[in-house]
Amino acid sequence: MTEATAVTEATVVTEDVTDGYVRVCSVEDLPTVGAVKVDVEGKAVAVVRDSAGDIHAIDDTCSHANVSLSEGDVEDSAIECWLHGSRFDLRTGEPTSMPAITPIAVYPVKINGGDVFVSVTKEN
Ligand code: FES
Repeated sequence: MTEATAVTEATVVTEDVTDGYVRVCSVEDLPTVGAVKVDVEGKAVAVVRDSAGDIHAIDDTCSHANVSLSEGDVEDSAIECWLHGSRFDLRTGEPTSMPAITPIAVYPVKINGGDVFVSVTKEN
């Protein structure tokens, strides 16, 4: 196994990515700062590049109501729900402002060969 080198919050791997990880998009598909919505094994996931260039994967649905977080604004390491303005920490899923009080799931991300892989079956 080749030693991984971390260049972002996501883990960069040089071997084949398997073991529960699913390719969701290319790094190039992501906005410079922002999110895209993807489907991972039937689950709506927001893949987000933050202001530092780190890539995260979170539940796409706000914990306050059934709203797509990938349509919200990204600033620093947080995403803001467009409906009522709750912000969620992309690293922990914790809401940092009201009205949401319940965390959202954060999924592990790996980058390989310019592709983004996410696992919705592993704990981050
Ligand atoms: S629906 Fe997201 S904060 Fe209300």
